[in-house]
Amino acid sequence: MAASPANTPPASTLIMNASPARPTTTLALGTDRGALERAGRMLADGALVAFPTETVYGLGADATSPEAIARLYAAKGRPSFNPLIAHVPSIEAALPLGLFSPDARALAEAFWPGPLTLVVPASEASPVCELARAGLPSVAIRVPDHAVAREILRFAARPIAAPSANRSGRISPTLADHVHADLDGIIDAMVDGGPTPVGVESTIVGCLDGEVTMLRPGGISREAIEAVLGKPLTERSGDEQAPLAPGQLSSHYAPENALRLGATRIRPGEGATPALSLNLSESGDLAEAAANLYRHLRALDQLATAGIAAAPIPATGIGEAIMDRLTRAAAPKG
Ligand code: TXA
Ligand code: MG
Repeated sequence: MAASPANTPPASTLIMNASPARPTTTLALGTDRGALERAGRMLADGALVAFPTETVYGLGADATSPEAIARLYAAKGRPSFNPLIAHVPSIEAALPLGLFSPDARALAEAFWPGPLTLVVPASEASPVCELARAGLPSVAIRVPDHAVAREILRFAARPIAAPSANRSGRISPTLADHVHADLDGIIDAMVDGGPTPVGVESTIVGCLDGEVTMLRPGGISREAIEAVLGKPLTERSGDEQAPLAPGQLSSHYAPENALRLGATRIRPGEGATPALSLNLSESGDLAEAAANLYRHLRALDQLATAGIAAAPIPATGIGEAIMDRLTRAAAPKG
């Protein structure tokens, strides 16, 4: 007797648990040695732990474990076609993960530890799992310059994937409070190490097929990178860039309020009227402006009713990263 179509499952079905176990409380950890050891061990056991780096807070997960990485994508609400950066505590720990060209090696030696991410071909024996790399043959690697991050990474003793510790599409966190606002009750633990000093994400440089390309401006300036290379970075067309840096969607850093660039005066109701104006840097210092950018954007986003106005900023040095983030924040939401 033929079963009725309604009762017949399709010939092949992919199933998954409807609701993976989620913590209901997030453990708050300090920065004493015991706490950092605990954070590192939790990561090694597959937990999701947020911690500060010199750029922004990262949400860590074991980069060698597809299960941990799947939970990480779910916690952030991040598409799993967007690959993650593997974080390690030293150059020595970084080298086995990928194949470093002489240019990649020179950049690693000049800027690690520091706010530079290198995308290189994954080594054959690379322990970074395919899910963390979104199936790409390349791997993104970074050695953060932050004592708390490096201690946690040492205790974890394996590469740790750490995207910014915000829900996908929200502004990156530069304070533990920001992490709390986005992810409390969703992740297992967070380490409060105070404000992150650089304030914008790492510069991502691709060292693939003999070319060195800027995939994302960030904490290390283009000028500093080109000085080490002794040549200009290769430019990529927008078309080529899309599949290479899939996280660089135009609305990636979107605040709730509309953002207007290049504002020379504030319009009524905008989040920079005298009472609401937040200065990125009194002295016009770009590094200070970068450090304040996301905190001020979050604050104005909560206050403003008729949008946020951003005054012009020079796009040199770390200013290139500031303008990149402001331009993305101003892009229509996709
Ligand atoms: O400063 C930072 O880099 C912070 C801190 C926490 O370390 N992390 C961070 O991660 O910004 P996330 O996931 O928010 O951004 C990682 C970017 C994404 O745009 C992703 O597409 C790109 O790195 N990426 C990762 N692997 C890549 C690869 N193999 N090729 C090209 N782009 C890659
Ligand atoms: Mg991010």
